[in-house]
Amino acid sequence: MTIIQPVVMFPDDNARAYAESTAPAHTEGRSPALHVTEDMRRLATPWSVAVAKAKLLDSNRLQQGIILDPACGSATQLAALCTTLQRPGLGIELSGAVAPLAAINLEKCGQTANEDWSENSRILWGDGTSAEIIMQTYHQHIEQSPNIALLHVDPARPNDAQQHTLDEMQPRLDDLLNSWKPYLGKNPALILDVSPRLLDNQRTEIVDIVSSIWNNVEMTWQWLTQGRGRIDRLSLWVGGAAGSHQCRLVRLTKTGEVHTIEGSFQQSIAQPSNVQVGEHLVVADPSLIASGLGESWREMCASSDTRWDTVTGRRPTLISSEKIHHGDVYEKTHSMIQTSGEVVALIAKISDKSIPEIADIASRKGISSLKLRCSLDPEIQPKLQSQMDRELRQYSDYESSHSGFIAETNNGYAICKEYN
Ligand SMILES: C[S@@+](CC[C@H](N)C(=O)[O-])C[C@H]1O[C@@H](n2cnc3c(N)ncnc32)[C@H](O)[C@@H]1O
Repeated sequence: MTIIQPVVMFPDDNARAYAESTAPAHTEGRSPALHVTEDMRRLATPWSVAVAKAKLLDSNRLQQGIILDPACGSATQLAALCTTLQRPGLGIELSGAVAPLAAINLEKCGQTANEDWSENSRILWGDGTSAEIIMQTYHQHIEQSPNIALLHVDPARPNDAQQHTLDEMQPRLDDLLNSWKPYLGKNPALILDVSPRLLDNQRTEIVDIVSSIWNNVEMTWQWLTQGRGRIDRLSLWVGGAAGSHQCRLVRLTKTGEVHTIEGSFQQSIAQPSNVQVGEHLVVADPSLIASGLGESWREMCASSDTRWDTVTGRRPTLISSEKIHHGDVYEKTHSMIQTSGEVVALIAKISDKSIPEIADIASRKGISSLKLRCSLDPEIQPKLQSQMDRELRQYSDYESSHSGFIAETNNGYAICKEYN
């Protein structure tokens, strides 16, 4: 196998001109102005997520040294780690078109706050699985001994694939970790980003790869959600980067707050029984179920009498005889809810023919808008929603001002009056 000689990417005028012409600097929210092409944007971690992830690390548990990202892409995540942990970064990128952008991005983040870490940071154009030659190249440019405090990697995955095999990750995790093993010591700190859609047996394969290289090292699986009923990121945190539990669920809110739930994996089990009018219904975040932390969350909610009506799909549904209290950790427990309300009526089916009757029932219960939060054919759903909106407008004279939603239950559909 030929080894590619790594090349140091200097953020000089040529690189700046190239970056500005290929991907003009762009700011998202509070991010620094970064150069990211459309293709890279699909792969890059958004700045807000990258910073939230970095803040979950305990710098005191990391050894002295640099942050390594051996497949750094735009260097957004690397720059967020360097800025948050105040450590120099070494990024390696295989694509010669992307590596100069990464160099400019990393330099910009260092300059913004005039930070010390920037001076010893480098981006190399090369193969991130050739650890020895990369370390030699870095050492030729930097005087200090290049000890690695943290390896973060987010390998590229096949485009738009619902599922993929571990062999399709670029770089492959086994090749990568074996190559870097001599530089990472007995208890390395690693963050391995993987597809949120990985199957359970693929997650086990990843744990096996890590355990075959580092025996008895601690590991935490982390699911990150920004709400909207989906898991945005899945990663394995190892050794010095691991949390104190086997699983961690992170909810990042729109305003940048971070809520975490930690614990051991416990499968949530549905106890379907007929949902009744007057009961309370919660559409929870599906990452609660995926992370095995649904039961830890349920205990935090401090409501005695709850049961899962369904635990599958994008809308796990919890039923209770009284309104969920959220205990003394309101923000945290509430952040894991998509919507919740009181069941005011039950209906058997939803179709264009039944919409006028449903709108009539809803308005009598004081509901003025009704969102269809159930699995319907995506072609039909918007049409039914528009029809529902039109029908409910006819009742606008009624004293109805509550919003509501329709949720799927195991015995049909529930019209719910949403809590304020
Ligand atoms: C998912 S992207 C990383 C995104 C990055 N975390 C960010 O914030 O932009 C993965 C990157 O790995 C690069 N890559 C794939 N194989 C590589 C290898 N053997 N060495 C170095 N980089 C590699 C790809 O070109 C791609 O840019």
